[in-house]
Amino acid sequence: MTEERVPHAPVLLDEVMAALAPARGETHVDGTFGAGGYSRALLAAGARVFAIDRDPDAVATGRALEVEQGDAFTIMAGRFGELDTMLADRDVGGVDGVTFDIGVSSMQFDQAERGFSFQDDGPLDMRMSKEGQTAAEWLNTADEAEIADVIYRYGEERRSRRIARSIVAARPLSRTGEFAMIVRKAVGHKPHEPKDPATRTFQAIRIFINRELDELAHGLEAAEAALKPGGRLAVVSFHSLEDRIVKRFLKRRSGASGAGSRHHPPTQNDAPAPTFAHIAKAVRPTQAELAHNPRARSATLRAGVRTEAPAWPSEAVEMAQC
Ligand SMILES: C[S@@+](CC[C@H](N)C(=O)[O-])C[C@H]1O[C@@H](n2cnc3c(N)ncnc32)[C@H](O)[C@@H]1O
Repeated sequence: MTEERVPHAPVLLDEVMAALAPARGETHVDGTFGAGGYSRALLAAGARVFAIDRDPDAVATGRALEVEQGDAFTIMAGRFGELDTMLADRDVGGVDGVTFDIGVSSMQFDQAERGFSFQDDGPLDMRMSKEGQTAAEWLNTADEAEIADVIYRYGEERRSRRIARSIVAARPLSRTGEFAMIVRKAVGHKPHEPKDPATRTFQAIRIFINRELDELAHGLEAAEAALKPGGRLAVVSFHSLEDRIVKRFLKRRSGASGAGSRHHPPTQNDAPAPTFAHIAKAVRPTQAELAHNPRARSATLRAGVRTEAPAWPSEAVEMAQC
């Protein structure tokens, strides 16, 4: 099997479980069910698991696990940014652990018809939930400047303007294959370059179409609201834009960066009490994990433990724009 064709192998599984420390009888939330690697490990430790995924295919996999596990496991279709209200709707009180394994699963990436891959031709879709505007619909109607901005911000692509100009000139687009060729041509693809030059642009459009950074910021706050004192949060991210949000959230909420924000400087009286403590250092995959799961190469795990302090007022919009 090639790297691209293995089923989803859970990333940093041992390290995530060490951070979550699930115990028999505890309640945990797996906010990104995917193929259920984390959920199964939580269940094996004796925890009651509520899992979430916005992808109907992942939810179907979760339904099968519900049948297998009975009352120990519940799959919920939706966005983890709303996990606190999803739990409240089910009368679930404070939970002992929340985990997010951000980004695209191998199943999503490997199915050409989902439109995430620049290696296999498929419809230019990229929607995790299979709902809302597709990548093609957006790219075929957005302003050139807006496209350039998205590619620059979410792909950290210096040549964003040139790419946006080529996209607009080639419209209408409908396939990932033609889109990848347009990007490669715009940036000048050198055959021996290790990284495909379409990588950053595909990442940018995917993040934009799925509002991934907004979701992450809301998910962190929803976890803060849902966790009971002593509850554990573990987040695995895959690129610097996501990791920056997680790092800043844990730093601010643990009181390590002062209580103020860019727009609200700190004062003595308005400093909310820290909602997280025991912030662990970032954890990266071992060489042994990378040897059998190369897709783990850019993963970073961050974790913290919920204190007794009330959740802070929302800063999610600001966080997602950092
Ligand atoms: C990297 S995979 C998770 C893999 C999982 N940990 C496992 O072991 O199989 C990420 C999953 O999270 C889902 N996802 C991403 N963002 C989401 C969001 N905001 N709300 C709900 N699900 C989301 C994706 O659809 C995908 O199935």
